[in-house]
Amino acid sequence: MSTDTLNALVPPGASTTDRDWWRQAVVYQVYPRSFADGNGDGIGDLTGLRSRVPYLTELGIDAVWLSPFYPSALADGGYDVADYRDVDPRIGTLEDFDGLVAALHAEGIRLIVDIVPNHSSDQHPWFQEALASPRGSAARERYIFRDGKGEDGELPPADWPSTFGGPGWTRVADGQWYLHTFAKEQPDWNWDNPEVREDFLTTLRFWADRGVDGFRVDVAQLLVKDLPAELPSWDELQAMDADHGTHPLQDRDELQDVYAQWREVFEEYDTPRVAVAEAHVSTPERRARYASSASLGQAFNFDLMWADFDASSFRSVVEADLEQSARTGSSSTWVLSNHDATRHATRYGLPPAADTGRKAGTAWMLEGAPRAGVDLQLGTRRARAATLFLLGLPGSAYLYQGEELGLHEVGDIPADARQDPAFLRCVETQEWSHDGLGRDGCRVPLPWTSEGPSFGFGTGSAHLPQPAWFAQYSVEAEQADPGSTLSLYRRALRLRHKLQTSETLEWLETGHEDVLRFRRPNGWEIVTNFGTEPVALPTGQFVLASDPIEDQLPGATTVWLRSES
Ligand code: GLC
Ligand code: CA
Repeated sequence: MSTDTLNALVPPGASTTDRDWWRQAVVYQVYPRSFADGNGDGIGDLTGLRSRVPYLTELGIDAVWLSPFYPSALADGGYDVADYRDVDPRIGTLEDFDGLVAALHAEGIRLIVDIVPNHSSDQHPWFQEALASPRGSAARERYIFRDGKGEDGELPPADWPSTFGGPGWTRVADGQWYLHTFAKEQPDWNWDNPEVREDFLTTLRFWADRGVDGFRVDVAQLLVKDLPAELPSWDELQAMDADHGTHPLQDRDELQDVYAQWREVFEEYDTPRVAVAEAHVSTPERRARYASSASLGQAFNFDLMWADFDASSFRSVVEADLEQSARTGSSSTWVLSNHDATRHATRYGLPPAADTGRKAGTAWMLEGAPRAGVDLQLGTRRARAATLFLLGLPGSAYLYQGEELGLHEVGDIPADARQDPAFLRCVETQEWSHDGLGRDGCRVPLPWTSEGPSFGFGTGSAHLPQPAWFAQYSVEAEQADPGSTLSLYRRALRLRHKLQTSETLEWLETGHEDVLRFRRPNGWEIVTNFGTEPVALPTGQFVLASDPIEDQLPGATTVWLRSES
């Protein structure tokens, strides 16, 4: 598609009314148990987070997305929620939560919380009630219970696996089975049940009333299912059309009725609450449904996260996404890292996924020895270049805690210290189905100081072991160094506000297939050399570069320039 057509599609954008605050926001994801520990018990908490609000202010973000902080048995890092309307006592209290909201708002920082609607924890009172109630009872109807197959119902109702490996159905004491798309401690809700629907509306209002500005919706494409009496096999399910809203398990058209109701709740507030869908769907057209203003309003695009550090991949992802968001009236979402993926500084130090058969964005651990084959220095350089590229784009940027320090994945966490069910199931079943070492390596508590028991995370040790090399990545070390990744993020985020006028860009010719260059309406140009050889620097006034440059633009470097015309 030509630049002109692309520009014509993009709305003339960003009048920054309050209502639109999210369109080009920089949203910083906090994984609360690993951010800052206020009371020294090894687990990050709300007091710790609140004490770091000045750090967030100085970083220059617009909003925090807080991963689950609800009471949980932690079978899946808090994505197994036992009470949707409370705070895990290990993390704090509702009062601490209110204090955090006030402290963030006082600094002009918004707060988005995670809502996990596909499944609860098996500790949730409604699941406990279901277990204590007979087959066919109203309590069981809130979840998905079925009789088993075989003579005594001893076989699962279907051969579906769980996402983390092992079976997707688990048997209860009286012989029935329940469905869990994820760990067995995460039973799927029955979204045909009116009580379940109503309860989530109550939850949304509960947090919105406390001042929460928006919601990140976990696996937003699941929820509503259409399960016939005779369940299809897993092979049959895989062969079914997932592109048209009719698949039995995912992205069903009726799901949008749920989000239309949620939208009504969002609009009850002044300023309306916002949402972003984590929707893993098959096509951009399907994703657009979640991003529509009648639905959740925005949806993550993970394509950049899955892409290798490569000019043509990056350009096609950006073009397709800008086109898509222009169609829906939403804005683009750019993501390089989150709590589910190998940190991008490490990913970019690996051989390209295309050459190894590895799925980009995950699974570097599959190759065996942790950290083997990773070029850390190159990964870091590319990560900084990719970040400046991304921060130059129109749309909102989602950053993951620690990426501003240039943190690498921690590959060598001992097996007995690991917590991720994806890893634990693999050990149990010997099925290396889910990313090998799992996701703990990007969830290690942050280093705030270069010394001390947990590098300043808390006063005691941290709930996941931190490696010695964290010292050089600590906030303390990096803020003293103008060349550090932290200093780069701070400068870039401060400058970025000047780019957030209109949500458009214009691609410019570079004459090199490894180099991308685009201009924003304020006249700034973003130029990234994805290759290894230096290229001539376009003319323009220097604004910022991802690594030092002189008269040429080196490989794996991005520069921001102010055009001279
Ligand atoms: C989402 C979360 C992930 C979690 C899963 C189940 O993908 O990001 O961390 O394990 O949903 O809730
Ligand atoms: Ca704590």
